Amino acid sequence: MPKPYFISTSILSADFTQLGAQISEAEANGADWIHVDVMDGHFVPNLTMGPFIVAACRQATNLPLDVHLMVEEPEKLVEAFAGAGASGLTIHPEASPNLHRTLQTIRSLGCKPGVAVNPGTPAEVVKPVLHMVDLVLVMTVNPGYSGQTFLPEALPKVRQIRDWLDEINPEALVEVDGGINAETLPLVRDAGAQAFVAATAVFKHPDGIAAGLKALKSQLK
Ligand code: DX5
Ligand code: ZN
Repeated sequence: MPKPYFISTSILSADFTQLGAQISEAEANGADWIHVDVMDGHFVPNLTMGPFIVAACRQATNLPLDVHLMVEEPEKLVEAFAGAGASGLTIHPEASPNLHRTLQTIRSLGCKPGVAVNPGTPAEVVKPVLHMVDLVLVMTVNPGYSGQTFLPEALPKVRQIRDWLDEINPEALVEVDGGINAETLPLVRDAGAQAFVAATAVFKHPDGIAAGLKALKSQLK
């Protein structure tokens, strides 16, 4: 698969009784990053993983750990996640009034800062911080669960943010998250995304993890 494309395999749909083995299998079959969905039961209805799981993932793989913080007051948690071995920390402006400061903090902790934007949030909300991030995560579902249906209305936002980044910060990546499979990936790829989060399409693929990754990567040749 030609870089600069990245598949970020979300462990939210993994079999947690076999987490290390499932991460190893994803790595062996071409996953580029491991995506860890942290949910606090407040910013989003679901409650998932904390730094302890990130530390376990860090033991299981040398791949970058792409940690997506769907939490209120992420500034209180970034140090713990950095210490657990996160490579990138992506935060939501909807949950973080001190967005600029928290992104600075993430960089100072040695992690790649990312900013995410929900389907109901205009792209303009992240424009003031585009110069200081390594990644913009455009949500293509409402955050909270894996297995939801891709929202095509996010496509113009992917294009808009890619265009702004090309002017302001061309090295930064656009990542998409939610409902990404072999059918929807070409849509977001053509809209300008470089990084693709997938949970269901990898860990719940009927023919297994290797087949799931192969199907996604076949769209990036
Ligand atoms: C949703 C999470 C996603 C989720 C994606 O809130 O941020 O990363 O795991 O799951 P799929 O790929 O099944 O839509
Ligand atoms: Zn995510």
